[in-house]
Formats: sequence, C-alpha cells, structure tokens
Amino acid sequence: MLRVECLEVLYGDFQVLWDVSLAVREGEIVCLLGPNGAGKSTVMNATTALVPRRAGRVVFRGEDLAGVPTHEIVSRGLAHVLERRRLFPTLTVRQNLLLGGYNPSARGRRAESLAWVESMFPVLAERRNQLAGTLSGGQQQMVAIARGLMARPRLLMIDEPFLGLAPNVVDDILAMFERINGEGVALLFTEQNVQLALSLSHRGYLLESGRIVLEGAGREMLEHETVRHVYLGL
Ligand SMILES: Nc1ncnc2c1ncn2[C@@H]1O[C@H](COP(=O)(O)OP(=O)(O)OP(=O)(O)O)[C@@H](O)[C@H]1O
Ligand SMILES: [Mg+2]
Repeated sequence: MLRVECLEVLYGDFQVLWDVSLAVREGEIVCLLGPNGAGKSTVMNATTALVPRRAGRVVFRGEDLAGVPTHEIVSRGLAHVLERRRLFPTLTVRQNLLLGGYNPSARGRRAESLAWVESMFPVLAERRNQLAGTLSGGQQQMVAIARGLMARPRLLMIDEPFLGLAPNVVDDILAMFERINGEGVALLFTEQNVQLALSLSHRGYLLESGRIVLEGAGREMLEHETVRHVYLGL
C-alpha cells in the first residue's frame, strides 16, 4: 500500500538520507528502527511532503505522490502523527480530536469518527473536556494517535509513540496498536527500542546514518547477529 523508493533527502548541503526504500502492505504493522539522528523522522516527514525529497518516489495505494501536498496525502488515507505529539495544550481532548477530522474525506464523518475512537479508547471519552496540556504523557500520546485516526487513514504513521513513557503506559499504547490494526488500519512507526518494536511488528527496517542496513520479519530481525550484538547486547 505504501512504497518509498530510493529516497534521498538533504537539509541544505547536508545529506541525511541515502537510497532509502521501504514498503508497508495492507493491514501490516511495520517499524522503522534506528538510533538518535539516524533519519527516522526525516523518512516520515519526506513521505508526507513535510520536507522536500531530493530524489526517490513515494507511491501510496498505486498513486505516485510526487507534487501532492501534505493535506491531500492525508485525504488519500495516509495520516502522520508527528514526533512529540503536537497537541494544542489549551484545547480540550475533544477539540484536539475533532481537529484531526477536518480533511475533506473525513469531515462529513466526524461525529461517527469521534464515536469510533471514543469507543475504542474509553479514556478519551472520560477526559473529553480536560485540557490536553493537563493530561499525562501517555494520555497525550493516546490523544495524538486518536487524532490521527480521526482522518480515517488506511495507513497511520506514528513517530516515536513510546518515547518517554513508563512501562505500564507502553502497554496501553501497545494495546492501542492492536485495536487499531484490528480495525484494518496499517501502522508504520519509528522506535529506538529494537526489542519492543520488533516484538510487535510484522516487519521492520533498521536505519543507520541515513541508510537502511537491515530489513526483515520481526522475529528474523530479532535473531539477526547484528541486532543481537549491537542493539540487544547479547
Ligand atoms: N530541519 C533540519 N535541518 C537540518 N538538519 C536536520 C533537520 N532535521 C533533522 N536534521 C538532521 O538530520 C539527521 C536526521 O534527523 P532525524 O530527526 O530524521 O533523525 P531521527 O532518527 O528521527 O532521530 P531521533 O531518534 O533523535 O528522533 C540528524 O543529523 C539531524 O540533526
Ligand atoms: Mg525522530
């Protein structure tokens, strides 16, 4: 459903991605792994046209996204939850959620979408009138993910969903992933914790210094020598 082919990105003269290719199939959970500064966010931001692509192609549901602006990409079914959540802290949970459903393809279904995300994640209904800035980090992450779902995507990309969360909150987000995926929505997410990410993903890609150095099924990658030595310390 998503194919990124031979992506190159530069910030000014500084190249940060070289020949990055990855794919997400219908209904899959895929992780993009890599240490700080590897270029994970840049891959996502270039995919949704938030940063320009110097070279390479992005194909989503059979259509080349060359020249397609971000808002139109969202309308076509690819939503992106940015790193650090980017909620509006002085708006309520419900107001934040509704803002996720303004794209033309989702606007007419906003009430239905709100009921959908609130039924999947009851805490959102319990907290609907609370200001987003007063939520815990984990609750804010849930709102950010649910806001992405309000766009009614076929593929939801989430940049660092587990960053800074306590282990029990990580479990809540994991449960959220399973429910979302159970609704037929494919997921692509970035993460530094290799063990965590691969154990919940169908497939993974490992990015180092702007290049994909390894890819494969989640379990295969966990058993790969490089991953075991460098990332798991085994
Ligand atoms: N707007 C920018 N201008 C210049 N350089 C940038 C910009 N954004 C990112 N970079 C650089 O590009 C490289 C890749 O950054 P990126 O944020 O994509 O990495 P990341 O894998 O998401 O890292 P992290 O795990 O810290 O989120 C880094 O060297 C970073 O310093
Ligand atoms: Mg990042």
